[in-house]
Amino acid sequence: MSTRRRRWPARRSNCPEWTLAEHSSDRLEILPVAGLPEFRPGDDLTGAIADAARWLRSGDVVVVTSKIVSKIEGRLIRVPSDPEARDEARRKLVEQEAVRVLARFGRTLITQNRIGVVQAASGVDGSNVHGDEIALLPADPDASALALRNGLRERLGVEVAVVITDTMGRAWRVGQTDAAIGSSGLKVLHSYEGEVDAQGNELQVTEIAVADEVAAAADLVKGKLKAIPVAVVRGLSLVDDGSTARKLVRPVEEDLFRLGAAEAIAQGRREAVLVRRSVREFADEPVDPEVLRRSITAALTAPAPHHTKPVRFVWLRDRGLRTKLLEAMRESWRADLSGDEFTDEQIAKRVSRGEILFNAPELVLPFLVPGGAHTYPDARRNDCERTMFTVAGGAAVQGLLIALAAEELGSCWIGSTIFAADVAREVLGLGAGWQPLGAVAIGHPLSPAGPRVPAAPGDGLVEL
Ligand SMILES: Cc1cc2nc3c(=O)[nH]c(=O)nc-3n(C[C@H](O)[C@H](O)[C@H](O)COP(=O)(O)O)c2cc1C
Repeated sequence: MSTRRRRWPARRSNCPEWTLAEHSSDRLEILPVAGLPEFRPGDDLTGAIADAARWLRSGDVVVVTSKIVSKIEGRLIRVPSDPEARDEARRKLVEQEAVRVLARFGRTLITQNRIGVVQAASGVDGSNVHGDEIALLPADPDASALALRNGLRERLGVEVAVVITDTMGRAWRVGQTDAAIGSSGLKVLHSYEGEVDAQGNELQVTEIAVADEVAAAADLVKGKLKAIPVAVVRGLSLVDDGSTARKLVRPVEEDLFRLGAAEAIAQGRREAVLVRRSVREFADEPVDPEVLRRSITAALTAPAPHHTKPVRFVWLRDRGLRTKLLEAMRESWRADLSGDEFTDEQIAKRVSRGEILFNAPELVLPFLVPGGAHTYPDARRNDCERTMFTVAGGAAVQGLLIALAAEELGSCWIGSTIFAADVAREVLGLGAGWQPLGAVAIGHPLSPAGPRVPAAPGDGLVEL
């Protein structure tokens, strides 16, 4: 196969000087290395390649399927040949080779392995090996590449580069390609940063993974079924900057997708409770009704005694009704406070704290309707029963606050309806059995904040 470099359009007179340091070659050849034997542990891979490719020249890139490196390095694991037991052993090996599990899709695990590579099944592979064997990736493919390169220099007197490949999927792209998991003698990355294209545009982020391109190109000749595990790419203008395939593993701190799906979900779950905080200032942005409905639906899954459903969330969407209720509650609060020997100024200050309920973008009023509560002949147990339902109401409200926070909505649970139960029931036309559990002001936080770092439990945790 050969590729011709595309001819660039004539330079415009106002373009800066042509400075593109191109990584591509005018013409490439990809040559199969035919006649290699079936490799087994301990075999001399360098000798076999040297014999089969006496035609190697300095500047060639020898591209080697990692499977044969695994075989000669003894990375074949004996497993039962019974398909079910073999699969079980394979699954254990995948976990053993993984340093991180990024995602699980059914039976498929996407992992990062010890050499940093993220791929399906930690590179553990049952293809092109005997039925009672499974191949692990080479332990240090960069070192294997260097050893092969040195060996070929000794045997044939040529200065070649070596790339060791494995087949892997790509996030967001269907299908797999070969990529470099080990390399030696090749500048694995070619950065165009600061170079200027034919139109005079400065390239800023283009960085070509040359070793991966070499790996993928060689696979077009090697294939998966032809028993050609080695191919030679000829015609690249080789630069050896000492880099190895390890450099192609994106450092964690530069990884925008650092967490795999499984890890992100786990972290999200862990932080769900910690992202809730009382938010008292809201942005003007309206709340999506579907999100609010979803949060209430989630909150209603809270536990409750005797399999009852005692919680009602009244979403006060009618602004007029909201104002009517809050004004009536304010009057009731004033009346309570005036009996407490507060000055008018102190009363006004206290009552003004209720403003949040007037201004919040949405208001949800939780109620307890404890139908299904047991009645007992004695007051003590009836009290206990009431407490049981009240705590269930609290659990549901906390669930709502957490569900809202997980949707990036802020909320503040305000107790006032508890102190104005009759007023609330009357204005809203609710029956005597509806016990208010406060009011929840909801909106997009004016100053969004991340999860809290919980304080040490201190007295809050008693371990007996
Ligand atoms: C039943 C109940 C009633 C509350 N009432 C009010 C209230 O009337 N006004 C208010 O600003 N906060 C109210 N809060 C919120 C607490 O003040 C708040 O949870 C506390 O300050 C801790 O802050 P955090 O929620 O950000 O952790 C109430 C909380 C609960 C559980």
